[in-house]
Amino acid sequence: MAVSNIDDFEAKVQNSYDKMSELKAFDDTKAGVKGLVDAGISEVPRIFVLPPKNRPESFDTCETQFTFPVIDLEGIDEDLIKHKEIVDKVRDASETWGFFQVVNHGIPTSVLDEVLQGTRQFFEQDIEVKKQYYTRENGKKVIYVSNFDLYSPTVPAASWRDSLFCFMAPNPPSLEEFPTACGEILMDFSKDVTKLGISLLELLSEGLGLNPSHLNDMDCDKGLSVLGNYYPACPQPELTMGTIQHSDGDFITVLLQDHIGGLQVLHQNQWVNVPPIPGALVVNIGDFLQLMSNDKYISVEHRVIANKVSRMSIACFFGEGPLQSPKSYAPITELLSEDNPPKYRATTAKDYSSYVLNKGLDGTSALLHYRI
Ligand code: OGA
Ligand code: NI
Repeated sequence: MAVSNIDDFEAKVQNSYDKMSELKAFDDTKAGVKGLVDAGISEVPRIFVLPPKNRPESFDTCETQFTFPVIDLEGIDEDLIKHKEIVDKVRDASETWGFFQVVNHGIPTSVLDEVLQGTRQFFEQDIEVKKQYYTRENGKKVIYVSNFDLYSPTVPAASWRDSLFCFMAPNPPSLEEFPTACGEILMDFSKDVTKLGISLLELLSEGLGLNPSHLNDMDCDKGLSVLGNYYPACPQPELTMGTIQHSDGDFITVLLQDHIGGLQVLHQNQWVNVPPIPGALVVNIGDFLQLMSNDKYISVEHRVIANKVSRMSIACFFGEGPLQSPKSYAPITELLSEDNPPKYRATTAKDYSSYVLNKGLDGTSALLHYRI
């Protein structure tokens, strides 16, 4: 941090002394946003209130002319023509939306239902049990926390969300490290998601004109963090956000959402709803894959609107983060030419994640920092 930034930061902290102590008081409860709701609050506390420019616009502006892409993976390994069609659809969606949903992906609906249910049970159980998992310390493999970036000075307000982080690969936690409500099912779900992730990375490699195993050979499938998100019912959803606008700092994300809805993707300057489809999974390109594909695939900003009713989602991040290897990632050589020179400098996951952690979810893309 440059000296002037430290001065800025300290001035901000001084000016907002109240805010800091309110953040701390909230954090110390270890009860998360759910704890506030259980205490019967009827107004959103000010640490969650966004400046007007960051608030959701009128709720009915999101019905657009766009149709969010849905890709059917049925028959992907049986028929060459079908396979090629699917690769084309995946490429097209990754280039234009950075997002798509998949159906017939091979993960049984019962697993999807149970993982949502088990994780919900964790968040809705007795606070005394839940509290044991609340921490901001690095190093634990299973972490319950509200707003990982709560104290980040650039974040405009805290988000209306509690989270359970599970670092599943390459070194998964043992069953005893998980809360009993969701340990077993999270392990089963992660196994299934890993298989799906490998297939998706094959399709994405082919979409770039590379050998199907290219991205997996670069270890894109080797690090997996699974994040259970609980969005408690919000008394004033117009003042805050479930998750503030951001892009994901990984290779790809596979997300399971329940039937409530609220996830929105920025497409052609409009916020477009990602409609909940029973049994579907949402897939999106992360910053690292945008960088490696030299902007062919795009990592797109998305957000979650707060809601009067509670919502659950489970985001599975295939990223280098948990590997913390010294490996550096750059635009893939095979994709570069005189007409397509590298747009980014190389970075390691460690450097990238510490940059993002410092920056917090402030609505700007971390990729810009690495642009040539
Ligand atoms: C995330 C995210 C969306 C959702 O956790 O990065 O974008 O629907 N979540 O919870
Ligand atoms: Ni995200």
